[in-house]
Amino acid sequence: MSQSLILNGVPWFDDDGHAVNAHGACIVEDAGRYHLFGEYKTDDENRFAGFSCYSSPDLVHWRFERLALPPQPDGPLGPNRIGERVKVMRCPATGRYVMFAHADDLGYRDPLIVIAVSDAVNGEYRMVGPLRHHGEPIRRWDMGTFQDIDGTGYLMTHEGDIYRLSDDYLSAEELVASDIAPGGESPAMTRIGDTYVIMFSNKTSWDRNDNYYLSAPSPAGPWTYRGLVAPQGSCTWNSQCSFIFPLTLADGRTVPMYMGDRWSFPHQVSCASQVWLPLHYDDVDDSIGLPDYWPAWDPRTGEPGDLPSGREMAAELDSSALGEEIRLSFSCGERERLAVIGTTDIDGGYAMLTIAEPNGTTVFSSLVDCYSPTPYTGVMFVCPELTAGDYELRLRTTGEASVFYKKDGTRLGSTGTRVRTTAIRLI
Ligand code: DGJ
Repeated sequence: MSQSLILNGVPWFDDDGHAVNAHGACIVEDAGRYHLFGEYKTDDENRFAGFSCYSSPDLVHWRFERLALPPQPDGPLGPNRIGERVKVMRCPATGRYVMFAHADDLGYRDPLIVIAVSDAVNGEYRMVGPLRHHGEPIRRWDMGTFQDIDGTGYLMTHEGDIYRLSDDYLSAEELVASDIAPGGESPAMTRIGDTYVIMFSNKTSWDRNDNYYLSAPSPAGPWTYRGLVAPQGSCTWNSQCSFIFPLTLADGRTVPMYMGDRWSFPHQVSCASQVWLPLHYDDVDDSIGLPDYWPAWDPRTGEPGDLPSGREMAAELDSSALGEEIRLSFSCGERERLAVIGTTDIDGGYAMLTIAEPNGTTVFSSLVDCYSPTPYTGVMFVCPELTAGDYELRLRTTGEASVFYKKDGTRLGSTGTRVRTTAIRLI
């Protein structure tokens, strides 16, 4: 398999073969490496389990650095708390790295924005406490950060409040714009030329929806609603915006890279994945967008790439009934990966995928999420590299699906437990 492409919508694996566990993420480029910070999720509950830091030379190969902020003994990210949407920026005035995050109780009823600091980008961050504006903690949940080209830092919150940070990034100095996106969550901002762009999702818990954006000549506005980020009904290509990273391509051009989450509650480690795509910018009308979904693309060129064709075998399973399974023997070459091809849809459930040696020893197993509010047919899962040999694949329906509830009790997520696969491909 080509090792130079970003694969969208499938879990990634680090150089130890563990799932890259960094969600609601951001990237900090430092000394020639990309540092990915995100929520270190668990597969069965939503309690804060830390914020992770991974690093990569190319946005494709990831190394786990550490838990940049482990669960704290007490305080806003202590026991029985939630920690989300971690963002990190290097403060130009102090040279320190400042981490911002949403801390909350398990019912999301005690929201706070908190800050932590470190002298090294990949060090362990020290909790400072709530981020304050005029001495008062900012009691908001979803948040994002943005660093302008002159180094000025901003914090954005749900509903669309934008704060300019103090020079040391440790307090919010001025509320420069307020309530620009009522009902909006997961703010992500960037600057393209002299235009500032901010994206929001709608409030549908872990579900995906059609995210939208506004633009302005300055972070203070005036902000104008500009429309959807991706085609209507695509649910932002089945993702929720989290961050916009200015990506420098091999030819020196910089393109804004959209970073979104494809959540999979409650199995966020095994099945939540990333959707990263270069944002298309049109200088005629100053608009941005994600007109096409690329399952794979090359971060050196900013162009779509073809998933390797590889050897393909039929692997047909279409069932919602618990415990139905198919078994398939296959052999693979050194460092080949097994890709599962099928359809995800509104009624999709979780499948259990197991790869075992002929003697029955399991070498890899994972849940595979077949749910997506917008149907998709293609690669649903790619396992880590295998060693050459003979294996048996088992794909089994679990009778379980990604289902979750809004604060008001509305049920969201999958309407069924269907697993639909057609083939496997060795790539
Ligand atoms: C939507 C937010 O964007 C996520 O970060 C998370 O808090 C979920 N809600 C929880 O339902």
